[in-house]
Amino acid sequence: MLRTNPTPPTDISEAPLFLRALWGEDTPRAPIWIMRQAGRYLPEYRALKEKYSFWQMCEEPDLAAEVTLQPLARYPLDAAIVFSDIMTPLSSMGVDVAFHPGPVVAAPIRTPADIQALRVPAEDEISPYVGEAIRILRRSLHVPLIGFAGAPLTLATYLIQGQGSKEYPTLRQFLWGEPDLAHALLEKLAEMTARYLRMQIKAGAQAIQLFDSWAGLHSAPIYRTFGASYAAKVLDRLADLDVPRIYIAVGASHLYEEIAALPVEAVSVDWRMPLDLVRRALPAKTLQGNLEPAILLAPPQVIEEQAQDILRRGIGGAHVFNLGHGIFPQTPPEHLAHLIDVVQRFDRHAPHP
Ligand code: CP3
Repeated sequence: MLRTNPTPPTDISEAPLFLRALWGEDTPRAPIWIMRQAGRYLPEYRALKEKYSFWQMCEEPDLAAEVTLQPLARYPLDAAIVFSDIMTPLSSMGVDVAFHPGPVVAAPIRTPADIQALRVPAEDEISPYVGEAIRILRRSLHVPLIGFAGAPLTLATYLIQGQGSKEYPTLRQFLWGEPDLAHALLEKLAEMTARYLRMQIKAGAQAIQLFDSWAGLHSAPIYRTFGASYAAKVLDRLADLDVPRIYIAVGASHLYEEIAALPVEAVSVDWRMPLDLVRRALPAKTLQGNLEPAILLAPPQVIEEQAQDILRRGIGGAHVFNLGHGIFPQTPPEHLAHLIDVVQRFDRHAPHP
């Protein structure tokens, strides 16, 4: 029998704060990590980037582990996320991806033959260097390690369109005009992604996040058909491994009814809707978020006020603090230090006016 829900450990009170919050506990303080916490806003990342290409940094396990640890050496973060990219496993399927700096697919996938040619490798043949980086990291890390993947619809977005775009017209036309081909592609991507995440968990990832960055482009019916159904397929395949699952879609407040039904313990939300209102739409989930990343470019006083507002709105349920989306490369590193300090000093169980 396939289990539909993972089971938390029996000694959950001994677990790190981040995992307790993901399993639904209303913790005394909100754990914090930051999307893209290893990246270009850090001078030590830019220094490594002078010597190595982005792909080298992903594919060389020692380098990937080193980059993962950079933000943890600087800040008392509550979780680490393995350094990689959502596009990484596509190379194992036979897709050629470059970064300029966003992903560019050399030969976009649009015909039956293109889809037919995509390989769905065995679990241990999908980017094995990511598993190796995870094993290296688990030997030294003192906080939980997050593994991740792109959701099928978001991977298909880049594969069909070929690169990032404001409106994604080719993708949207494809979903309406070639639904059978879209389903065939999404089916393969879902199978590959389930295997890839199982590999990461078996290597030592203690939580996973599924990034559906472009899901918010779509109406609810299109999202149900091509987005949520395949994300659910991937997530269901992880239930027996007993790690908490986080899902993120950006600009997706209009899709919360569908998102509420996904088999995940936690939902990461962007900054467009206040957290207390999101809580009403997603009452059974841990909420992760939701500081607007641009606020980290504002003066420290503004960062403090806005972070405290989010912390107050998060009271009354499980909350993991994060940004609403990835940190901007122009963020001053000391502003992030200030944010983490504000979040970690906030007592969620004290009376708040
Ligand atoms: O969070 C972390 O620290 C882990 C690293 C991570 C990267 N990409 C490294 C990266 C993660 C979790 C991702 C996920 C990712 N990649 C997503 C989902 C999150 C989101 O933003 O919605 C998406 C859509 C991608 C695709 C992608 N890769 C884009 C759009 C870009 C360009 C972005 C930019 O900031 O210019 C990339 C390249 C990329 N991935 C970089 C990094 C650090 C920049 C590469 C560089 O150093 O030049």
